[in-house]
Amino acid sequence: MNIYETDQLLAEYLLFHYGEDNEILPWPGGPAHALRYPVRCVTECFDLKSLPPSARALDLGCAVGRSTFELARHCTEVTGIDFSQRFITAALQIRDQRELPYLRRDEGDLSTPLVARIAPEIDCRRIHFERGDALDLRPDLGAFDAILMANLIDRLNDPRRLLERLPSLVNPGGQVVIASPYTWMREFTPPEHWLGGFERNGQRQSTRDALQSVLEPHFDLIRASNQPFFIREHARKYQWSVAEATTWRRR
Ligand SMILES: C[S@@+](CC[C@H](N)C(=O)[O-])C[C@H]1O[C@@H](n2cnc3c(N)ncnc32)[C@H](O)[C@@H]1O
Repeated sequence: MNIYETDQLLAEYLLFHYGEDNEILPWPGGPAHALRYPVRCVTECFDLKSLPPSARALDLGCAVGRSTFELARHCTEVTGIDFSQRFITAALQIRDQRELPYLRRDEGDLSTPLVARIAPEIDCRRIHFERGDALDLRPDLGAFDAILMANLIDRLNDPRRLLERLPSLVNPGGQVVIASPYTWMREFTPPEHWLGGFERNGQRQSTRDALQSVLEPHFDLIRASNQPFFIREHARKYQWSVAEATTWRRR
């Protein structure tokens, strides 16, 4: 069973991407700095000023699409790709209807009806969503000026394969943002494919170092930041995580 096809994850991701701050976090003293992660992945991680006037962007592992819509504020053509058909169907509904009703889980079987909405100024004609596999992308996708991979690499069976495909997907001067809490789990990635989080010859291997060694023949690291995020499971239970976001410019 793919968890990203379930009712529970669909509702959690709609709230994570489109919930108003007070719908996600009504508690005083909660980590408000961790809200709006799908927006920050675009506004704080890309060097937006250096994008060309008719930039093409790709949001890989886009889930229900909030970052894809945010990229459309800065790029004239944006493609969001996700492996989950449920997530892509929801993203398409939001693009076409500009809203999607959903239920936020509160306690047990109790829930609250909410509506996911996109801002009126976002031009949906720029946006395309499709179901696809980041490890088996269609060969005619073309090249991009901005690629976002938010919380994707540690959900892939073989992340190195995607990293090795990147040079052919990025235009010279184009940017790739890789944001991840590096939560390596055997159910998603066999340990022999983990990029980091293990010891080899007595040395601790970090994911950041592995990214550097795979990407540095073609890319320069131009920015790195810690990006907290916050996923609400129900009214009194949350996951607070801190992704590392690195931005790489194609030489
Ligand atoms: C942890 S979620 C992150 C989603 C979103 N980028 C965000 O930051 O909220 C991981 C996403 O990657 C998608 N995914 C997992 N494996 C994939 C693959 N091989 N190709 C494309 N998407 C994949 C899942 O369906 C899910 O939407």
